[in-house]
Amino acid sequence: KPVYVLGGPNLNLLGSREPEIYGRDTLADIHARLEAQAEGTALILRQTNHEGELVDWIQEGSEKGSAIILNAAAYTHTSIALHDALKACKVPVIEVHLSNPAAREAFRQVNYVSPAVKATIAGLGAYGYELALKAAKTLTGQ
Ligand code: DQA
Repeated sequence: KPVYVLGGPNLNLLGSREPEIYGRDTLADIHARLEAQAEGTALILRQTNHEGELVDWIQEGSEKGSAIILNAAAYTHTSIALHDALKACKVPVIEVHLSNPAAREAFRQVNYVSPAVKATIAGLGAYGYELALKAAKTLTGQ
């Protein structure tokens, strides 16, 4: 079963969006590196700016995937709907953030995702996605 790699709002702007915080890699660069690392593991790589679409994809990943790697971006700090979808999710979810929200503004200190996932990787930039894929493969015996 594939590993779902899901991204939330504004991650389509990576590369040009506040590069001092989020780095110079585009989301396409990050996805290409994951594909190169995936070997036998199929990846489903998606990004959306819409909260409900992330809910739909988490539900899909729960049924059709082996694991989910999720950067919910700003919805991390606001979305009870995502929290509930993750609570219902039957496969392991690894939360990724490029930056370390814990070291940033007060409004990023609320996190509805972390309490509902297996693990969180934050603050390592795009490398965090590579670690998350390695972990997802190990967790699911791939
Ligand atoms: C982010 C951190 C969030 O606080 C922010 O809203 C993002 C990106 C990260 O990857 O560092 O959009 O999830």
